[in-house]
Amino acid sequence: MMSKIKKAIFPVAGLGTRFLPATKSIPKEIMTLVDRPLIQYSLDEARAAGIEEFIFVTSRGKGALEDYFDRSPILENHLHKKGKKELLQIVRDTTFDSGTIAYIRQHYPHGLGHAVWCARQLIGDEPFVVILTDDVIISKEPVLSQMINAYESHGGTMVGLSRVPWENVSNYGIVEPESSGDKILRLKGLVEKPKQEKAPSNLAIIGRYILTPRIFEDLAKTPPDANGEIQITEAIAKGTTNSPGVYGYIFEGQRFDCGNKMGFLQAGIALALQRPELRDELQDFLKSLE
Ligand code: UTP
Repeated sequence: MMSKIKKAIFPVAGLGTRFLPATKSIPKEIMTLVDRPLIQYSLDEARAAGIEEFIFVTSRGKGALEDYFDRSPILENHLHKKGKKELLQIVRDTTFDSGTIAYIRQHYPHGLGHAVWCARQLIGDEPFVVILTDDVIISKEPVLSQMINAYESHGGTMVGLSRVPWENVSNYGIVEPESSGDKILRLKGLVEKPKQEKAPSNLAIIGRYILTPRIFEDLAKTPPDANGEIQITEAIAKGTTNSPGVYGYIFEGQRFDCGNKMGFLQAGIALALQRPELRDELQDFLKSLE
């Protein structure tokens, strides 16, 4: 029997320099899309996929993130007294049972691979997921649920994939599929930020990963790149020659890269247009700008 995936790592230790000056004092993950912080979207996705333990790899200055998940007795009391039941529920939905959430510090920004490695003691001997909160994906079935279903028939390691324009491949981890499948592809190679002319495909790794504890050994053997960062892509690539191998899953959904300004703005608009109370007025406003 394949063990059920219960743990998720959220690497949130990055400096978020593309959002300066905001990120001078606000963690990027707390920046708001409509009325919810960025991180809430991927958390909901993880919960919907059955994740029960949440591990955040943080860094100095991310205190607001820890507070966000904490109880807020004064606020809750206030809402309770005023009879604001709906708001009270919204606030309560953001808190976690004690012991289901853990924070680990990454002391230096040595890259995503290093951030994941920092959580090694909390994982034990079971598969887990890594979620990058920058990638917000609007889909009928949460992407992580789609991937976990696919994983249950394949095992191994799995990365979320999306086709990107060829001129953008050098911004992503890009995969080399072994065969041209439909949704699930066995991979024979993965390369981080290749030049367009060297890229093996235009299938880009999007921030959803299913990994096994073996990755920690591979990360330990992965040297830092020219920027001093340990790349998770390179460590995953080491597993392509092992059984049961590495798979890519081409997910269904509309993905926004909220790590950059344009993606963040577009996600805000797309998410607001999904809200019945905002949709019509926002649509009118957008038309008035044309
Ligand atoms: P990015 O490459 O987007 O970096 O990290 P960043 O610091 O968040 O943003 P910019 O480029 O300075 O604007 C991708 C993901 O990996 C995490 C980030 O928090 C983000 O979720 N990360 C990155 C770490 O946890 N540690 C690192 O050392 C680097």
